[in-house]
Amino acid sequence: MQYEVVLPAAGSGKRMGAGQNKLFLKLLEKPILIHTLEVFQQDPFCTGIWLAVKPEERTYIRELLEQFEITKVKGLPDGGAERQHSVHSCMKEMQQVDIVLVHDAARPFITHDIIASLVQSAHESGAAIAGVRAKDTMKKVRNGIIEETVDRDSLWMIQTPQAFQFDLIVEAEDVAEKVGFLGTDEAMLVERLGHAVHIVESSYENVKMTTQDDLIFGEAILRKRAL
Ligand code: CTP
Ligand code: MG
Repeated sequence: MQYEVVLPAAGSGKRMGAGQNKLFLKLLEKPILIHTLEVFQQDPFCTGIWLAVKPEERTYIRELLEQFEITKVKGLPDGGAERQHSVHSCMKEMQQVDIVLVHDAARPFITHDIIASLVQSAHESGAAIAGVRAKDTMKKVRNGIIEETVDRDSLWMIQTPQAFQFDLIVEAEDVAEKVGFLGTDEAMLVERLGHAVHIVESSYENVKMTTQDDLIFGEAILRKRAL
């Protein structure tokens, strides 16, 4: 089933501490941004890519798209101050499609199988997001003291992609914007409407490149996949 994808790429990468947008850092000679874009470029079900970018980075990103033959990008609108604003700025330019995926440009290891499961689930139910089960014992802590040991079976660590029927995510974003609600992911906006959001079990390899040590995991994953 076909879909279009929104990739927010307009962050600063502060936690990476590289002094530049972390998406331009290379994993085995190729920018993180390109690794992510290639997944969607190569997925036959992806019919369009929307990339939210910083205005001052647009020219360089266009050069990268040309160099690496990424041809599915339909628009590169300005990102906003928060990730949610960057996503919204892409949604505003999109034409009606059946399914929209939102995916962090900083998660280059997402696979076609997981994408297909998310798209199918969103087609059937409206909203589906990727996540993995918490591995460690989980505790709630306040002021350095354990308050509670939380039942791990009910805890999931949430990733992207997050997949939605077009009308549902548009409505969720409109409502959030109207009341000034800022979520940490798109699913939160849909949850606020009272709409069920389904989870699709993803992979621990779908890690977000956030801090320097993620780059080590990232290169290890690429080396393993190249074997
Ligand atoms: N992002 C965006 N617009 C923003 C903030 C983030 O498009 N205003 C994008 C980032 O480029 C990234 C994704 O959202 O692809 C996930 O965000 P995160 O990992 O937090 O990236 P940064 O915000 O760049 O990093 P940091 O929070 O460490 O500054
Ligand atoms: Mg951020």
